Order: sequence, then structure tokens, then C-alpha cells
Amino acid sequence: MPDPDIIGNRISMFTTLSDIYNARGEDLGNKNTVLLEKVSKTYQMGEVEVHALKGIDLTIGKGEFVVVLGPSGSGKTTMLNCIGGIDSPTEGTIVVGGKDISKFTEKELTRFRRETVGFIFQFFNLIPTLTAKENVEFALDLVPREKRVSALSVLGEVGLDDRSNHFPSQLSGGEQQRVAIARALAKRPPVVLCDEPTGELDYDTGIKILRLMRDISRQEHCNFLVVTHNSAIAQMADRIVRLHSGEISSIERNENPIDPEELVW
Ligand SMILES: Nc1ncnc2c1ncn2[C@@H]1O[C@H](COP(=O)(O)OP(=O)(O)OP(=O)(O)O)[C@@H](O)[C@H]1O
Ligand SMILES: [Mg+2]
Repeated sequence: MPDPDIIGNRISMFTTLSDIYNARGEDLGNKNTVLLEKVSKTYQMGEVEVHALKGIDLTIGKGEFVVVLGPSGSGKTTMLNCIGGIDSPTEGTIVVGGKDISKFTEKELTRFRRETVGFIFQFFNLIPTLTAKENVEFALDLVPREKRVSALSVLGEVGLDDRSNHFPSQLSGGEQQRVAIARALAKRPPVVLCDEPTGELDYDTGIKILRLMRDISRQEHCNFLVVTHNSAIAQMADRIVRLHSGEISSIERNENPIDPEELVW
């Protein structure tokens, strides 16, 4: 099977989504396959147009752990927001689990955000009036009862079981970040979008969180898309995507991802 990334350049020859999937060697119905086809996003700021994304072609599938690197303003958050159904592309198509998300009704989009996507935001976005435990429980409400785990056990996974009754304002930056991580991972979503997930964490805590993410990605076969300024994290990725001025400047496959514990920064 040819490398799907190489085929990405010839994608305009194909007309239907299933052509694209077949060409990229992906399973059309796979619930966690994410496909971006010529995705552009332009923000209109009065007279000025900001071209945040310019024709992004990318496929993520089969439980991949993908790290996205790029300078500030290169479009990383915009790309995550578009994949997560929080923002929408100006042009192009995003398909998740065989469905074109731009065709979703508001109701379908809400369901998609709840059931398919786990989002770790760059600035955490915790609900300030809920405690750490309640913030996680809020996300767990969306999980079918038989698959539901306790909020306390998920907080334990990120080392915060003793902070469960704290409100976000009573938590340090790194603790808030870990609540946000617990909230996103609690429902074990097929697609996990992480924007600087370890930005506020010390080295040891950061490594533990990356280990948790790696274990979940391998056990649950969910796709991780991890945006970071810390290029060392790329060494544990299956693939590394570099963005520059709204364009993909390179996609590199890492044949030998290393363990999080071996990362040095
Ligand atoms: N809502 C918006 N309205 C107008 N312009 C925006 C908006 N969101 C982002 N931009 C612009 O789009 C470009 C890409 O922004 P984005 O937030 O995706 O960058 P980033 O790669 O995540 O950067 P950072 O590493 O600083 O988080 C930037 O130039 C930014 O100013
Ligand atoms: Mg950003």
C-alpha cells in the first residue's frame, strides 16, 4: 500500500470521499479516522483577511499518536478547532468516522463533540463553578452507564484524587490542566485533540501524563492529535506534522517511537 501522505498530493484526481479513503488506504467506516481534504480557514478582520489554514491535507487513523509542531500563529489551534467541530473551515472537507462534519445539523454536531471528541484546550476551559470532580463528572454524564468509570478514579490517573473538591480557582495552573486532561480522557473518546497538554506541567508530571495518553491510545486505539511547542515530545509520536503559516511543511513517520520516560527536555 503506498504511503497515504504521498497520495495526498494527488487527491484532486478523486471525486468521492470513498475514492479518497480508498486511495489513502483508510477504512471508510472506522469511527476514529479523521480526514482533512484541502482545508482552509480565513478569518475576516474588518478589511484584513487572516489565512489561518491554507489547503491542509491530512489523514489520521488506526490509533495513531500524531504530534503537531509549528511556530505561534501557524494555525495549530485553528486546525484542532475545525476537527473538533468548534470552528468550521472556509473551504475543504473534514470527515470523521466516514461522516462529513460540515454537513452535520447543530444537533448532530453537538452529539459529535460529546461522543467522538475529547478536547484538551490550550487554556483549559474548566467550568469555574464546578469542583474538579464535578468538572469530570460533567463529561462522564455523556458516557453510556455500563462504560462509565468514577470521576475519582480518572482524577487518580492524573494524580489529583486529593484535589477533587477544589474549584478551578483553588487549583494551580498545572492542576487545572490535569483536570482538563482527566475530563477529556474520562470518556475514552475515539479522537483526542490536545492543545499544549503539558505546557503548565513540571517534567515528572508531564511525563506521567504523556504515559497515560500513550497507554490510552494503545489500549483504546483512539487517535491522538497533540499540539505542542515542546519538540522533544515528537519522539514518542507515530507521526510528526509540522505547520508553517497555515500550511503543512512536512509530515514525518517515526518508525521507532520512544517511551515517554525516555524523553528529555
Ligand atoms: N477567531 C479568530 N479571528 C481572527 N483571527 C484568528 C482567530 N483565531 C486565530 N486567528 C489567527 O489565525 C492565525 C492562527 O492562529 P492559531 O490560534 O491557530 O495559531 P497557533 O498555531 O495555535 O498559535 P499558538 O502556538 O500561539 O497557540 C493567527 O494569526 C491568529 O491571529
Ligand atoms: Mg494555539
